[in-house]
Amino acid sequence: MHASALIFGNALVIVLILSFCTSVHSDDVHASIKNRLGNGKNITLHCQSKDDDLGEQNVGDGSEFGWDFSVNVWGSTLFYCDMGWDDVPQFHFDAYSFDRDFARCDTQCSWLVAGEGMYGLNGQTGFWEFAYHWSS
Ligand SMILES: *[C@@H]1O[C@H](CO)[C@@H](O)[C@H](O)[C@H]1NC(C)=O
Repeated sequence: MHASALIFGNALVIVLILSFCTSVHSDDVHASIKNRLGNGKNITLHCQSKDDDLGEQNVGDGSEFGWDFSVNVWGSTLFYCDMGWDDVPQFHFDAYSFDRDFARCDTQCSWLVAGEGMYGLNGQTGFWEFAYHWSS
């Protein structure tokens, strides 16, 4: 009786530890960058992190490029992108920065590229927020 209670207690601790680890690692975020420039304008987009290079992408008008990732346990996850098209040949931005986005983009970090500037989806409020104005 006493021994089985002890075994049950150990098993419970192991289950708790496993579920804690799973909850850390299943913290997946989907990032996406949507082209809403109009007029059939393509964007060239190149996003990367310290460990992953997502390659140079051609994102057509009305399309999007997205990827999934897990935030690391050190809270240093960072994906940065360079993009451009005829009006804005070079623009650098952070698609996901843990310090800035861990609450705002809990599961989804979406960006919308429009003619006037860029909008970011605030996952907490569900609103698109104006993030950058293209300087011309
Ligand atoms: C946009 O990219 C597509 C290929 O994905 C290409 O066929 C098209 O000509 C490009 N449009 C412009 C305006 O460069």
